[in-house]
Amino acid sequence: MAVKIPMTSAEIRTRYLEYFVNKGHLKVPSSSLVPHNDPTVLLTTAGMQQMIPYFLGYETPPATRLASAQKCFRSTDIDKVGNERTLTFFEMLGNFSVGDYFKREAIGFAWEFLTQVINLPAERLHPTVHPQDDEAPVYWREVAGLPDEAIVRLEDNWWGPPGASGPCGPDSEIYYDRGIEHGCGQADCKPGCDCERFLEIWNLVFMQFYQDLEGLRKPLQKKNIDTGMGLERLALVVQGKESIFDTDMFHSIIDHFASLARTFYGKSVETDTSLRVIADHARALVFLAADGVLPSNEGRGYIFRRVLRRAVRHGKLLGLEKPFLSQAADTVIELMGDHYSELRSRRGLISEVLNLEERKFGQTLNSGLQLLNELLDKLKQHGQTVIAGEEVFKLYDTHGFPVELTQEIAAEQGFTIDTCGFEQAMQRQQERSRAANVFVQAQDDAPLAEILQLVGPTKFLGYDGITGSGKVVGLVVNGEQVESISAPQQALVVLDATPFYAESGGQIGDRGEITAPMGIFQVRDTRRPLKGLIVHYGTLAEGHLRVGDSVQSNVIEQRRQDSMRNHSATHLLHKALRDLIGPQVEQRGSLVEPERLRFDFACPRPLTQSELAQVDEQINRWIRADYPVHTKVTSLQEAMSSGAMALFGEKYDDLVRVVSMGSSIELCGGTHCTSTGQIGLYITVQEASVAAGIRRIEALTGRGAEAYLRRRNSTVEAVATTLQTTPDLLETRVSQLVQDLAQARRQIAQLQHDEALRQAESIARHTQEARGIPVVATTVHAPDDKVLREMGDMVRSKLSKPGVVVLASVLPERVAIQVSIDTALTKHGLHAGKIAALVGERLGGKGGGRPESAQGGGKNKAELGAALDLVAPYVKEHFQQ
Ligand code: SER
Repeated sequence: MAVKIPMTSAEIRTRYLEYFVNKGHLKVPSSSLVPHNDPTVLLTTAGMQQMIPYFLGYETPPATRLASAQKCFRSTDIDKVGNERTLTFFEMLGNFSVGDYFKREAIGFAWEFLTQVINLPAERLHPTVHPQDDEAPVYWREVAGLPDEAIVRLEDNWWGPPGASGPCGPDSEIYYDRGIEHGCGQADCKPGCDCERFLEIWNLVFMQFYQDLEGLRKPLQKKNIDTGMGLERLALVVQGKESIFDTDMFHSIIDHFASLARTFYGKSVETDTSLRVIADHARALVFLAADGVLPSNEGRGYIFRRVLRRAVRHGKLLGLEKPFLSQAADTVIELMGDHYSELRSRRGLISEVLNLEERKFGQTLNSGLQLLNELLDKLKQHGQTVIAGEEVFKLYDTHGFPVELTQEIAAEQGFTIDTCGFEQAMQRQQERSRAANVFVQAQDDAPLAEILQLVGPTKFLGYDGITGSGKVVGLVVNGEQVESISAPQQALVVLDATPFYAESGGQIGDRGEITAPMGIFQVRDTRRPLKGLIVHYGTLAEGHLRVGDSVQSNVIEQRRQDSMRNHSATHLLHKALRDLIGPQVEQRGSLVEPERLRFDFACPRPLTQSELAQVDEQINRWIRADYPVHTKVTSLQEAMSSGAMALFGEKYDDLVRVVSMGSSIELCGGTHCTSTGQIGLYITVQEASVAAGIRRIEALTGRGAEAYLRRRNSTVEAVATTLQTTPDLLETRVSQLVQDLAQARRQIAQLQHDEALRQAESIARHTQEARGIPVVATTVHAPDDKVLREMGDMVRSKLSKPGVVVLASVLPERVAIQVSIDTALTKHGLHAGKIAALVGERLGGKGGGRPESAQGGGKNKAELGAALDLVAPYVKEHFQQ
């Protein structure tokens, strides 16, 4: 009999996509793990995320039926990873309908796919529905022939919104019965039970509502379908495995780590847990790094850091001492690179980021762990079970321990942490460094979406000029649409046409004024919160403004022109870096302001001075060549084949704007000079590291560059005048002065030494005696502690026999004391440190040190005589024959 080979996960993925393509769906690629233009979530958590603008009617979808295999990351359960079911990174198979089919078809497709395409036994599949949903059970009966009592009603069957606001709706979940042997044995065990018997495999969401920030729900214009099925879970079911980690998606990764740690999967609960943690985390880190997430202390960067550090700690538990993640990345890339080609093309970057962060953490892990263990021991001795927030913060701040890691390690030993205290410590630090911009905050986009739906996209007039006429088509105050506003009122203004550039592609938004017949609105910032909608943020300074008013818009000219110079220069910089260093220089971020430009790019090492000079020279050559700047709108495909540089992780439309100047061709929606000559001048002012493998260049152009040079020049002039020379001779003059200074310092040191010697000789001639021991206790002139110490030793060496020397010097701020005792005497009960303490205390200060040499001092000069008088009696009293 032929052995039936179960379907591989790659096959399941292919069959799924093929099935839905056959049902009229457009196959769309997975979007990035970094959500595009969605501030409400840090990372992509579901396949539907890229569909949100379509569901809400903000954008037109490329087709009304879509299907994808989406990379997802869920951070809520990071600490639970290690059991047999939980993952952070996973793949979600999904089919979507944007106002096309609804419940009946969604249920029909799901049933057919599960029972006919991947041949799961129908009797093991159990659908559940929301108790208020009377339609879904009807279709389940129709499609699957199930009796009503077989369809379980669950209150939990509701999905969304994925962030603070967004689409949501009731859902129908399909559970797979793994068999009674996995169950809890309770009579009422059914789908939704907490035990291991029924595994949820597919979620069919009937997206019908929009939920705003206050939790209020409004029906959406169109009814949509969003389904999601975890590929890993499906593989578990199809391949008949006990755990996700037994499927083909994890085999080679687990084996890799097990052999590295010289152990095997299944050996013990502890090693298995650590192997699963590392396997999940390694996959997640590879995908996160490939999508441009870099370790940092906030947002998604912090999630990356937290996951990596947790993986490293589990590596340590397995006995892996050397960095292991970057090597593991290769295994993940081998396994998944065929479907996710970005893993292969970014292999270098992935391994570099993992390597650097792992090494960085490795350096502090041991000291941090030791500190934490000491702390736990101390708390145990005192019978305490809570770690103070300040301590947790210290571990976080100086040893890079994510608070969750401290919590986890603490919990393993029966401790909890004072989260509240930690938050407070963290907040205190953040308050110190926060630059608040309270005006443009995250807000509910719903009123703006209504305006967009009503009036359509804003016409942008600003490529050709900085003024223009238009009409007010929407006003929003405090998240509500209003018909009119009166001065002085802060508001969001939408026009049908505007010359104001809305922040995007790194170029910041324009400022200026909108003049209406009865009022003047001052625009403080311009943004594009929804695709196609330009929104002016600012204050009505005078009069009234009404929806329907005809207005005249004026952008502040100089600001815009400075920004354009910096934007065009950013393109030239990008090109110059790629020409010089190579194509691995990928743009990772940019900021184009009127005052300066900032450009972040992938590059494993700092640029040398000579490379930086070459970049500046090249850019200025291109500026002098005065290349015209051409822009054209063309298809994405044509733009890419003409060699245009696109931004990594950016989502482009089918029609794109291409900006070219000289040999630089980039996809860009920004405003630019008409020719490179207008940039005037380019100067790099700083090159530094921003994160592992990412460098940052800050530069100036035009007026900013000119002002910078003038400032530098006048500093040079002023320094030259002070040093009585000319700028041309400044370098020679300064090196001459540095030499003179060094020589003068040497001379002073010699003179001080000679003077000390002279004083020492005369002092040594005036000793007292105590029990036959020469004792010197006197004041000298020594400029600092060092010379005082030298003098002490000199005086001692000049004494006729082993003795005790106590010298004091009155310095500007305090009296310094030096005590020197011959080593021979320290065996007879005399101790320099104790004498220094005695004298220092009398001076209102303190002292201490070794038996033969000690220092001390205090501020109370008036007591100096009395303090020195303590020395001889001390010697008399303590000297033992
Ligand atoms: N959005 C739903 C989920 O994430 C279905 O795709 O489960």
